[in-house]
Amino acid sequence: MRIDIITVLPQLLESPFSDSILKRAQTKGIVDVNFHNLRDYSTNKHKNIDDYQFGGGAGMVMMIEPISILIEKLKNERNYDEIIYMTPDGDTLNQGICNQLSSVKNIIVLCGHYKGVDERVREHYITKEISIGDYVLSGGELAAAVLCDSIIRLIPGVLNNETSALTDSFQDNLLAPPVYTRPAEFNGWEVPEVLTSGDFKKIEEWRHEKAIERTEKRRPDLLD
Ligand code: ADE
Repeated sequence: MRIDIITVLPQLLESPFSDSILKRAQTKGIVDVNFHNLRDYSTNKHKNIDDYQFGGGAGMVMMIEPISILIEKLKNERNYDEIIYMTPDGDTLNQGICNQLSSVKNIIVLCGHYKGVDERVREHYITKEISIGDYVLSGGELAAAVLCDSIIRLIPGVLNNETSALTDSFQDNLLAPPVYTRPAEFNGWEVPEVLTSGDFKKIEEWRHEKAIERTEKRRPDLLD
């Protein structure tokens, strides 16, 4: 998979992609992540990428020209499955969207800033708009990092068996069951006996039961 991220703050994205699972996925050649600094595509000598909004009002708007130049350039180089705009008024990200996006070949992710992008970008280039929740971030970069992390870990070969995404919360519309590790007793607080019984059928049943119990209690909406 290839991911092209369009941003005015590439340095904000570097850290999440240079450690742990996201780094390994790139080293293994499973995913190719490219940052594009939008300022490099500015058409004026001050390297501006934003301007005042027509009609007046506070806040700057990201201009269509640099975004269009960059997206057209990328589209000339390859076909894209989705051109995604990170915005608080997009579809709220969930595991279903992550699963679907983890199987595509090429995506562009556009990070918004200020008051957002000129609406014509959304009308003519964007194929999907994604929000990571009902709150407003200073820019789309952190949201893009969240989106990419949640997609990349699902691509076959990225996680090994031990960290398999199949047992994650939400993967079967259930929250994950509680987990424990050594010591089996701490301060008199004991690990549920079934987990140390060695009876794997019973352990599986217990985990499923606890997953349902936890989902009923915390996220009954997932069971509907
Ligand atoms: N940009 C600013 N806030 C955001 C959010 N909640 N989700 C996605 N992009 C954003």
